[in-house]
Amino acid sequence: MKLIIKGGRLLDPASGRDETTDVYVQDGIICARFEPDKSTEIVDAAGKIVAPGFIDMHVHLREPGYEAKETIATGTAAAARGGYTGVACMPNTNPVADNRFIIEFICKRAAEEGRVNVYPIGAITRGSRGEELAEMGDMRDAGAVAFSDDGRPVSDAGLMRRAMQYCKMLDAPVISHCEDQTLAAGGVMHEGYNSTILGLKGIPASAEEVMVARDIILAAETGCPLHIAHISTAGSVALVREAKKQGYPVTAEATPQHFTLTDRAVTRYNTAAKVNPPLRGEKDVEALREGLADGTIDVIATDHAPHTFDEKNVEFDLAPFGLVGLETAVGLVWTELVHTGILTPLQAVAKLSQHPARILGVDRGTLTEGSAADITIIDPVFTQTVDPEQFVGKGKNTPFAGRTLQGLPVITIRSGLCIYAA
Ligand code: DOR
Repeated sequence: MKLIIKGGRLLDPASGRDETTDVYVQDGIICARFEPDKSTEIVDAAGKIVAPGFIDMHVHLREPGYEAKETIATGTAAAARGGYTGVACMPNTNPVADNRFIIEFICKRAAEEGRVNVYPIGAITRGSRGEELAEMGDMRDAGAVAFSDDGRPVSDAGLMRRAMQYCKMLDAPVISHCEDQTLAAGGVMHEGYNSTILGLKGIPASAEEVMVARDIILAAETGCPLHIAHISTAGSVALVREAKKQGYPVTAEATPQHFTLTDRAVTRYNTAAKVNPPLRGEKDVEALREGLADGTIDVIATDHAPHTFDEKNVEFDLAPFGLVGLETAVGLVWTELVHTGILTPLQAVAKLSQHPARILGVDRGTLTEGSAADITIIDPVFTQTVDPEQFVGKGKNTPFAGRTLQGLPVITIRSGLCIYAA
């Protein structure tokens, strides 16, 4: 089990390395230089980027319960094709992952059928109903890496504070879906000029921002690591920037859809662009890009949210929120952020590997000697037009169909074994 990846541009944010070199792998581990023998596999990576395996810390795998949308097998196959070696999966399954048995089930299914590493996230409250805390300690023991009611907010501030006190003890982050439901009430897209023109009920920026502010205050008070999921507004970016300046234990993620598209994508009632939080305005997209560049936003995550064709092929008001992201994310990062000079390749790699690994506390995200050989190889000039029919994930609900992307994953390696090659 020997592998040499030859002549690529190694980007390892943990050690700051950015150099053309060979990477040596033996028995699934990054190791020191060795002489190849007949059984050594050689991968030619000239002109390619060799990075620590990417981790998407915000994915909906839908199993158990919603297997028509996605399964652990199909979702992790989509992840491998998208250049990911690991995903953290959200608990809004059916039943909700709010107890140790569901966490154990996910780990078992992932071991049997998962193409990539799967890190389960447990629910904060029972059934994610926001009424009483779930058995977080039990879930932590069973392998939950973080806690979230993603898809829904924890509206009760007292309950969120208690959850943070427990999570601090459990040394696990709370991942917050920030949405004040009294402000968002019934909205289906960003509140602004376009919602008025389309006659659709809007979700104001304040619906997110008041809860970002609340949760930052609670994180400061409790000392619990808080990770803000899918940050979407300029105001939220400013709040997180200030929280970091104050030294509070706060991190944040942005999705490719939120740093690429505005609410104009909803024109013609395109349900593929219906997502929560909604696609926002130009100034918000600008602020997200600034937040990514200056380090306010630590992570790029997809919020991969597959739905069936029939569920999305309805009136805008009735369609579920969500779009798929695993198979387009890296191409969007390179096209929108790296080739435009907003992020250096090393910064982009850090937000896709080192930072999510650190936040989740998983032993990944670096290619230093002795680490697991989870590796993503990117061809920065490879160009392809997004065709949802080519997706290996079940969901085809993307607003990026027909968009040409440059800079794509071409080989994904997990524990020294190739799990995807273009
Ligand atoms: O658009 C979304 N879809 N946002 C969420 O927070 C949940 C997700 C889903 O589960 O479909």
